[in-house]
Amino acid sequence: MELITKKDYDELSKAVGDFVIDYVGKKPDSLICFAGGDTPLGLLKYLVEAVNENKVDLSKCRFVGLDEWVGLGRDVKGSCQEMLYNNFYDLIPVPKEQVCFFDGLAKDLNEECRRVDSFISDNGNLDLIVLGIGMNGHIGFNEPNVPADTYCHIVDLDPITKEVSVKYFDTALDVKQGLSLGMKTILEADTIILMADSERKADIVYKTVHSEKTPEIPSTMVKDAQKVYFFIDEAAGKLL
Ligand code: GLP
Repeated sequence: MELITKKDYDELSKAVGDFVIDYVGKKPDSLICFAGGDTPLGLLKYLVEAVNENKVDLSKCRFVGLDEWVGLGRDVKGSCQEMLYNNFYDLIPVPKEQVCFFDGLAKDLNEECRRVDSFISDNGNLDLIVLGIGMNGHIGFNEPNVPADTYCHIVDLDPITKEVSVKYFDTALDVKQGLSLGMKTILEADTIILMADSERKADIVYKTVHSEKTPEIPSTMVKDAQKVYFFIDEAAGKLL
């Protein structure tokens, strides 16, 4: 795992953005996954600007969502779909059929997981995945003690995830489960990017860098993958 430290959130977003632009330049029809959450917002803004300035063409890329809260649809502020569509997919010219996202309102959640699995396998494995890290080390909704051999699956959310979730929603929502790409899906990606910014992530960044690989800290599970880049800002790296 290569650790790359940038001065602040803007520099971090720009560095990951340039990495994505370079990647797509080499493989224009890449299958890409961007995390939801707050961490990638600056990156997505940077990429939208780059598309508008003709610095990158993302129209041939395929995109898949990383995770979603069970029970939340695209119209709920704070759902992963809402965040990714409003900040990215709706702002770039990409055919809608090239974007696949978990529907948190699906009647049959297992079938929904298999639908997303099929979208990925029909397009080959993931090329590039850009992950945030939860306060408990989760990646997507792969919570502590996640099995390493899962594809898309339904998850019972960890208490820390439920506690942190309030920051995304206008009103308190009683979220209990999530849908997520599995560790196996993530580990089969050609290139993995982890991102973390701000001092509140300093502890989990320290653990991710210094702990042995352990399912107790899901972010450590990608450390041995072939191409893994951990982009942080100075505040997130302050305990290193
Ligand atoms: C959230 C999301 C993940 C995200 C992670 C970190 O619960 N489900 O997709 O990567 O936790 O979130 P944030 O970037 O807001 O810190």
